[in-house]
Amino acid sequence: MTTDLEHLRSDLLASIDAASGLDALEALRVHALGKQGAITGLLKTLGGMSPEERQEQGPRIHGLREAVTAALTERKASLERLALDARLASETLDMTLPVDAVPAGSVHPVSQVMDELAEIFADLGFAVATGPEIEDDWHNFTALNIPETHPARAMHDTFYFPETEGDARKMLLRTHTSPVQIRTMLAAGGDKPIRIIAPGRTYRSDSDATHTPMFHQVEGLVIDKGITLGHLKWTLETFLKAFFERDDIVLRLRPSYFPFTEPSAEVDVGFSVVNGKRVIGGSEGWMEVLGSGMVHRKVIEAGGYDPDQWQGFAFGCGIDRLAMLKYGMDDLRAFFDGDLRWLRHYGFSALDVPTLSGGVGA
Ligand code: DAH
Repeated sequence: MTTDLEHLRSDLLASIDAASGLDALEALRVHALGKQGAITGLLKTLGGMSPEERQEQGPRIHGLREAVTAALTERKASLERLALDARLASETLDMTLPVDAVPAGSVHPVSQVMDELAEIFADLGFAVATGPEIEDDWHNFTALNIPETHPARAMHDTFYFPETEGDARKMLLRTHTSPVQIRTMLAAGGDKPIRIIAPGRTYRSDSDATHTPMFHQVEGLVIDKGITLGHLKWTLETFLKAFFERDDIVLRLRPSYFPFTEPSAEVDVGFSVVNGKRVIGGSEGWMEVLGSGMVHRKVIEAGGYDPDQWQGFAFGCGIDRLAMLKYGMDDLRAFFDGDLRWLRHYGFSALDVPTLSGGVGA
């Protein structure tokens, strides 16, 4: 009897310990403690025993029942814990958004090109400067050697604001990024060298396949002592080679006129025709890409510098046009339509950050 009890006890405890799940455990409980259970059966035998026998067997059988009950409770708790852990592991909510699960937006080609410009010019020691899009007449024109009566004003198709009482300034939407030259010089205080580019929005009342009322320019300005046209040419060549990622970029500087530079040059880049398409590089034909020149004495003066000591060069360039040339888009108006299909096609991944080491292209 004693050994039977011992067997039963070790069998039951081993099975309980090995129970693979809550259902199996419940079956074991019924098997041991249910109405027809083994231990229940043993308890029933107590009634038929002699007092002495009962006194001996009673504690054993009750002890067995308690041990098995305790083992069942403990195993049940650990199985429930395991089940909960498994559920927690399978039902996790990932609160971080994996990038590829988010409907992808894209970086507009204009923004991409602006980032590329900043990267290329940062490598040459240029900082990025900014100025207001709502400008006054003096910064946009007068300080740039375009006085009131100058015919260049008419060429700019300027959007003027209605005059406000008590403000003598004539306000307008800046027609180019050149006023940032003036603002940067005035902020620098007339006694230190400057190397900046100023990318941003510009406005003119004009609209066709290659002109939109809002467009983008980048201005470049270098002020220092002993600056020559050679510095200008080298800088533009280095910039355009890096931007178009080609070494066979050929520049042609054509004498031109801008009120704020003297001498002035328009810069053409050579192109070749590949499969009927114009590709930058080579010199089968020429495309105008930017205006430039040595900063006019009057402009240096307006910026608070002494033109007998300080010289400089400047350039201005349409960013939208650069983007069109580099990435093969032919209608400028589509840039600003906000058409998702266009944006998906021509846009860039947010992670495609231009770096000189990784390539400033796509
Ligand atoms: N501001 C000129 C324009 O909008 C472009 C330009 C030409 C800027 C020559 C310059 C420059 O800084 O030197 O047409």
